[in-house]
Amino acid sequence: MNRLKGMFDIHADAGYYAAIKAAIQAVAHSHHLARIETPILESSDLFHRGMGADTDVIRKETYTFNDRASRSLTLRPEGTAGVVRAFIEAKLYARPEPVKKFYYDGPMFRYERPQKGRFRQFHQMGVEVFAEASPSVDADLIHASVAILEHLGLTAHLELNQLSNTSKPDYKAALKAHLKPHLDSLCADCQTRYADNPLRILDCKIDATHTALQNAPMPLDYLSDEETAYFNALQDHLKALEIPFTVNNHLVRGLDYYTGMVFELKVDEAILGAQNTVAGGGRYDDLVHTLGGPALGATGFAFGIERLVVALKAAEIAPLTDPLDLYVMVLDASVTDYALQLVKALRHAGCAVMMSHHDGSMKKQFKTVTQLDAAYAAILGPDELASGTVTFKHQASGTAHRLNLSDTATMTRILHGGDA
Ligand code: HAM
Repeated sequence: MNRLKGMFDIHADAGYYAAIKAAIQAVAHSHHLARIETPILESSDLFHRGMGADTDVIRKETYTFNDRASRSLTLRPEGTAGVVRAFIEAKLYARPEPVKKFYYDGPMFRYERPQKGRFRQFHQMGVEVFAEASPSVDADLIHASVAILEHLGLTAHLELNQLSNTSKPDYKAALKAHLKPHLDSLCADCQTRYADNPLRILDCKIDATHTALQNAPMPLDYLSDEETAYFNALQDHLKALEIPFTVNNHLVRGLDYYTGMVFELKVDEAILGAQNTVAGGGRYDDLVHTLGGPALGATGFAFGIERLVVALKAAEIAPLTDPLDLYVMVLDASVTDYALQLVKALRHAGCAVMMSHHDGSMKKQFKTVTQLDAAYAAILGPDELASGTVTFKHQASGTAHRLNLSDTATMTRILHGGDA
């Protein structure tokens, strides 16, 4: 039996995932984000209404099936729609804080063509912030995304754009009128997008150099005065935060719910090729209302965790490791109970400890100590038991500490790096 195409097991890279989760936790703490977890499976209707029936994700990429009661269900392709559903269902909008901030991470599913940085099961870490539209809330959110990268020791470039909510239909019409004479020379995907989702043509990688796109009307040309002022204020805040950015007026994002500011964080193409966007997000001020909640704006982003793993490796940043403090070698079955008790006491004191279970000669057990890279080895046999002592040997220096078998306090101090 093999795993499914585009899906994978996480074992060798588990330390990278742990490092990424630690960075998320640190930023969740400093930005005071509340944890939210939603089911992986939701009604298909949620994603149709939430993400837009004409988006690539909904048209071609969802894992949708009927359950035994013939209800159409979908494995979540992203986290935002589910968080908004939960936000409405549990009336989280009634919480006292004026800006309600949540974070999550977990697996997402999209039936895509697997390639570097693009999988069918992948993991996202996301933040969703519910509050009246405000450039400073957006700047604060973008700061959280940049802070995650800083925690990891990564750098990425921030690209920013502002979509017009007020003149979206006018802009769509103008873009379509401009592209119509060039339709035959656009790529096959863009020809489909023309009818359903013309904005996506703007960020098509294949047609990026097409002259029709070079001189197409841009979303920024269609902003109202208020939207322009908003975007300028956001840029001022980012400058105050010393977050470098580029305005990319071709940036539109793939999901329908965006209503204003959109952004992406990109790493060098040399690292991830065309899939070099490690995070994306923006404002979605209509979604809470569309899904049955109050008219409350929101803004958010999500990182692709697998892409961060690739970026960490490329930058030669070490994964998180969980070192073993002590390996207790058991020389004879008669001392097993004592070894179990010793190991139990040290684990209670917070040490990472393993013991052998009659695993052969002392030589063989020392080999295990080396393979496990344990900081200390202890030998426990009938002689040690008779004398009531045990020897802790520091593997790197060879220093030995002979300790009273009941003195777990001193043992703990040594294992935690203190002196005997
Ligand atoms: P998205 O741009 O579709 O946005 O996905 C966010 C990130 O997830 C991408 O930048 C990428 O790093 C990663 N990603 C997406 N698809 C795949 C895949 N097939 N394989 C590996 N990684 C992938 C959203 O999902 C929005 N919910 C973000 C958001 C939150 N907007 C507002 N709030």
